[in-house]
Amino acid sequence: MKEEQLNELFYSLTLEEKIYQLVQLSGDFYKTAAVAVGPKGKLGISQEVVDNAGSILNIIGAEQIIKIQKNYLENSRHKIPLLFMADIIYGYKTIFPIPLALGCTWNPDLIRECCIKIAEESAVSGAHVTFAPMADLVRDPRWGRVMESTGEDTYLNTLFTSAMVKGFQGDFTADKSIASCVKHFAAYGASEAGREYNTVDMSERRLRQDYLPSYKTAVDSGCEMVMTSFNIVDGIPATGNKWLMKDVLRDEWGFEGVIITDYAAIQELIAHGVASNDREATKLSIEAGVDIDMKTSCYSNNLRQLIDDGEIKKELIDESCLRVLKLKNKLGLFENPYRGASIEKEKEVLCCAENIKLARKVSAESLVLLQNNNVLPISKKNKKIALIGPYGDNTSIIGLWAIHGDQSDVTTLKDAIAEKIDANNFCYAKGCELLEDYTFLGDFGKMVNGGETSDTNPEQDLEEAISVAMESDVVILALGEHMMQSGEAGSRTNITIPKIQLDLLDKIRELGKKIVLVIFSGRPLVLTNVLDKVDGIIQAWFPGTEGGHALADVLFGDVNPSGRLTMSFPYSVGQVPVYYNEFNTGRPVKTSTHSERFMSKFLDCPNDPLFSFGYGLSYTTYEYSDLVVSKDILKVGEIMEAKVSITNKGKIKGTETVQLYIRDFVGSVVRPVKELKGFKKVTLAPGQSKQVVFYIGEEQLMFFTKNLEYKSEKGEFMVFIGGNSNNTLEMKFTFI
Ligand code: NOJ
Repeated sequence: MKEEQLNELFYSLTLEEKIYQLVQLSGDFYKTAAVAVGPKGKLGISQEVVDNAGSILNIIGAEQIIKIQKNYLENSRHKIPLLFMADIIYGYKTIFPIPLALGCTWNPDLIRECCIKIAEESAVSGAHVTFAPMADLVRDPRWGRVMESTGEDTYLNTLFTSAMVKGFQGDFTADKSIASCVKHFAAYGASEAGREYNTVDMSERRLRQDYLPSYKTAVDSGCEMVMTSFNIVDGIPATGNKWLMKDVLRDEWGFEGVIITDYAAIQELIAHGVASNDREATKLSIEAGVDIDMKTSCYSNNLRQLIDDGEIKKELIDESCLRVLKLKNKLGLFENPYRGASIEKEKEVLCCAENIKLARKVSAESLVLLQNNNVLPISKKNKKIALIGPYGDNTSIIGLWAIHGDQSDVTTLKDAIAEKIDANNFCYAKGCELLEDYTFLGDFGKMVNGGETSDTNPEQDLEEAISVAMESDVVILALGEHMMQSGEAGSRTNITIPKIQLDLLDKIRELGKKIVLVIFSGRPLVLTNVLDKVDGIIQAWFPGTEGGHALADVLFGDVNPSGRLTMSFPYSVGQVPVYYNEFNTGRPVKTSTHSERFMSKFLDCPNDPLFSFGYGLSYTTYEYSDLVVSKDILKVGEIMEAKVSITNKGKIKGTETVQLYIRDFVGSVVRPVKELKGFKKVTLAPGQSKQVVFYIGEEQLMFFTKNLEYKSEKGEFMVFIGGNSNNTLEMKFTFI
């Protein structure tokens, strides 16, 4: 529709009709012609609102979307199509690895490719907008949602966020793209103690330096929507935070798209204690610049009255409504309200061979080899392999946020291994349940494979496991957290492998077999007490539809693992938050001259994490040598080179992630001990050496200085290059 037609349409709307465009309801209101009474009653909205609401949440599938849209338009005065939005976080039907695992590929191009495929599957199934990417920086693995983030580093998160937004949105072709809604604005990843929906409080400096850049990159990459977060930002909940939405997002960053709340967040302003009723909450939100109210009756039931009482300006509704209409127009909905939705195309595209192939590749690239005492890769021949554990034959490895995925599309680890090796050399036993007790998960515990089963027989499970282990040369133990222990509302304080599974591990260990532990989890777990009990560890995350195949590829050496951690694995949960780019403090443990007790440290635990940011092993080893910088003194406007040689010292080909870090020794404000500024993935044949070159200029040295200006400061710097944040070569230079 041309702009003038859109304006005409806009001017023909009544105030109510404009307000309805700002209301988002969930799918249960529309699934049948006779609208469900329950939720309508609960929300306290009228049938008129249901008939005119602007968008729907989490309904997908071409058939039902076409039906709902048709029905809706038949009853609509202006024929303004509904917008269908959904949580399609890391896959619609082909489920890719969780974002934290995607991050471990250190491969933005590959991540973009995944999002292109996700967008295509979603578009043909009728979705218009995905609530992704989640660009929240995370440093606390107790928070269940770390699985939805790409990790603890600002620079990496910006690259991945941009790749995701561009992948989803593409060039807006109807059957290939969806609009992206970046979330949760802002700083949701810093929830205190990692407790879901909890308080966030930090300095504006930290907010700007570490947390805001990835949302900004999403905006710069063209994302159409932003979702507010549940938390407070400097004492004011994000959903009612004018500074955040207006001053920063709209005025500073120039965001012109649609702002939506997170689920029911307007009403939650009351519980937060900044509004005493729906009406006040509505006023705060609309004045803060929030366009769409997700799943409350606040906007539908209060905006009109607020205008009539002269408490808010009518123009606010106009602006928000126009933004929603513009998005509908950009998606081409006025020309074709069904957009990409097509039952025929769904058959072609969903879980098609190409997507499955990509899922296998990216899943294998996301696996991180944490330990290998000469046990991996496992030989395919003449070895008796026992696969044991509740994740051995489990389809819930798609993880919690694959809410539209089908577990029946998953190839389990057991089935994937069976494809690789002789059946006579392979046996499987479950060994134990995922959890000794599922009741704390409520109904969610029963929702998934691995949930409560009625025929549980722990003694028999264990006996079987011991018997198959006895017969084997190598035991692959597939353990991990229940998928419902991760994701939204999956906060945990005890972030270990569940006890029942650790008990199984101990029993198997008594048999003296070689053990390879494969860990399924949505977060870094504390593995300190596990390391010495096993010979190899692969961090599998929730690896998606093709996770089984990808793992088998890595376990048996068809793929050499190359994943690198983007989030530190704590030594102990008491260290949390523990992250690589910390400040030095006044009493740094490595260099302080204070007596030992009075340094910044724990009495009962090291400062360093168990596995640091950037870490990951390979089936070969790499040697770094000959670090040189092309200048001792770098001047403003100049670019210098930092070069290093990498040699593959092993017998097989491998891909190494060469990481560049920089430290600014003295600033007007304290600077981190190290910050990632670049990386390159290089593939090396056995014995091969390559020189890798990074370019460093003023841009890499900039930060938010004392006056919160983003600029560089002169002084001494250190360049570090290596295979992880804790193992680097280093060289100084001066910036003048
Ligand atoms: C709440 C979650 O915080 C958010 O990430 C999600 O997109 C919405 N619910 C919609 O389902």
